[in-house]
Amino acid sequence: MTRTILSAVNISKSFQQPDKSKLEVLQDLSLDVAEGTVIAVTGASGSGKSTLLHLLGALDAPDRGEILFDGESILGFKGKKRAAYRNRSIGFVFQFHYLMPELTVLENVSFPALIKNFNKEDAYERAGKLLKDVDLGDRKDNMPFHLSGGERQRVAIARSLINSPRLLFADEPTGNLDWKTGQKVFGVFRELIKERNLTAVLVTHNEQLADLVDSKYHLHEGKLS
Ligand SMILES: Nc1ncnc2c1ncn2[C@@H]1O[C@H](COP(=O)(O)OP(=O)(O)OP(=O)(O)O)[C@@H](O)[C@H]1O
Ligand SMILES: [Mg+2]
Repeated sequence: MTRTILSAVNISKSFQQPDKSKLEVLQDLSLDVAEGTVIAVTGASGSGKSTLLHLLGALDAPDRGEILFDGESILGFKGKKRAAYRNRSIGFVFQFHYLMPELTVLENVSFPALIKNFNKEDAYERAGKLLKDVDLGDRKDNMPFHLSGGERQRVAIARSLINSPRLLFADEPTGNLDWKTGQKVFGVFRELIKERNLTAVLVTHNEQLADLVDSKYHLHEGKLS
């Protein structure tokens, strides 16, 4: 039987609006993610996809409900444990790539490993390998602004894997790319996930890409179906 690595149990999240009214985004949402699977979450703009990923990644907390990683409540993770969950257990590819403009491609990919106090040479070596995996081995000394959008997304994907996470969250990793480049980046992404036997939660607007993963959910009116 497959093991559940991540669960959301009846989570709700609302945001207070400037007029003090509440915008209910997620309502009693539950989700179980089996280890080694890739799931996709689709849904309209504003339906709460990024909000859900932020909660699963402990970047924000739900108003109600529970999130379990390996059977443990991530909401109970404080201080070092919370930082370790974020830095080691999970990798994040954000909706906007957030590469640091003043660092080279290689330095950007290495950065999360350096924060984790990894030896610099070791971090650079692993970053170089990951860049080869995303087909950017010869661009490591470039600055991010020299790269195309799809290349930057591939750098962000390489960076998300540098600390060998068990879980990967990706928010529209191909969102701003043309169809052909999007497909290419998605292919690289899926291959890296499968090679490493990672568990991934992927947000996408693209129903065709969502059809390529193990299971697909649709977020609508605060719930997944
Ligand atoms: N910090 C916040 N304060 C107020 N409202 C917020 C906040 N974060 C998100 N929202 C609102 O919550 C709703 C869900 O936002 P979210 O970013 O999760 O949508 P999304 O499904 O990722 O959309 P998109 O596909 O456009 O990226 C939106 O209406 C958004 O404006
Ligand atoms: Mg979003």
